[in-house]
Amino acid sequence: MSDREKKPQIIEADGNRPPDAALKRAVIDVLAVGGLVGLPTETVYGLAADATNPQAVARIYAAKGRPQFNPLIAHMEAGEAAARHGLLNRDAERLAKRFWPGPMTLVIPKRADTAIADLVTAGLDTVALRVPALPLARGLIAAFGRPIAAPSANRSGRISATTAADVVEELGEAVDLIVDAGPTNVGLESTIVACIDKRPVLLRPGGVSREEIEAVLGKPLEVDRGGGDRPTAPGMLASHYAPATPVRLDAHSAGPDEALLAFGPDLPDGADRAVAVQNLSPTGDLIEAAANLFQALRALDRIGAKCIAVAPIPEKGLGEAIRDRLVRAAAPR
Ligand code: TXA
Ligand code: MG
Repeated sequence: MSDREKKPQIIEADGNRPPDAALKRAVIDVLAVGGLVGLPTETVYGLAADATNPQAVARIYAAKGRPQFNPLIAHMEAGEAAARHGLLNRDAERLAKRFWPGPMTLVIPKRADTAIADLVTAGLDTVALRVPALPLARGLIAAFGRPIAAPSANRSGRISATTAADVVEELGEAVDLIVDAGPTNVGLESTIVACIDKRPVLLRPGGVSREEIEAVLGKPLEVDRGGGDRPTAPGMLASHYAPATPVRLDAHSAGPDEALLAFGPDLPDGADRAVAVQNLSPTGDLIEAAANLFQALRALDRIGAKCIAVAPIPEKGLGEAIRDRLVRAAAPR
């Protein structure tokens, strides 16, 4: 078969069930030779490669156009595997026990003898680990039998992919195979917490809220302010998740040449005159809003309006992660 034929291959599957034998075979065949798979998880679609194969990991960076210094998350089938790759302190153990499988990534000191390639951790002495909850994803990782490196399946700096069609739009022929399990249900990336010393740090708000994490830890999370002696998530660049259209936050009204990203039952003034409107959650439910965020941004970006005006989003629960993504989408580029 010539390289140009039908690439990427797309296979549909039910995300809520373990993969069948044919799908396992197809995914393993691609990963085993250093190929890239568009892999659905409960948060967003990942661009997956064998985390123990440096060439395969290098292809991820090339496909995304990602700065080499930005490390990747290694995905495992079960929490028990974490101790093979890193050192879990008490906080890390508590979080792993409570939130794995699920939208939680732990950054912990890396074991010298881990099989995870240095390119995954971009040479850092810490490693980011996660056990995704989607039964299809876990089954595929288990079948492959090695950790899988997978950043979100978007080009660097752009909106994350929450459907297989987004993966095609973002990465096209750079992906060998896409597993299409429909839209992801959380819709936002995992929460990243660094457990390096006695002070756990929130590196990225995400699918598990700060309130839930602090309840389990029994202490507040510190916030990553970048720089200094604290670990940081190098991927948290100021401009990120960026649509082509400029974004205006906390808009209490929308102009006639603007597209409106609304939230809740009360629409901002001028909503009826806006070029287009997407409501993240007409009832004001932050979980529903998180699930709809990236699709709504993509849809409004396609309109080509002068600006996307974003209604105020409350900063509690998943609102912290939603606001974080929107602030980055609005950042000067
Ligand atoms: O939900 C998710 O986490 C998705 C799905 C596919 O699992 N993955 C994801 O990966 O969002 P990515 O590569 O888009 O974001 C990973 C973030 C980056 O900001 C990166 O800088 C940070 O994790 N990170 C990875 N390893 C790190 C480390 N050792 N120390 C600090 N930050 C790290
Ligand atoms: Mg990403």
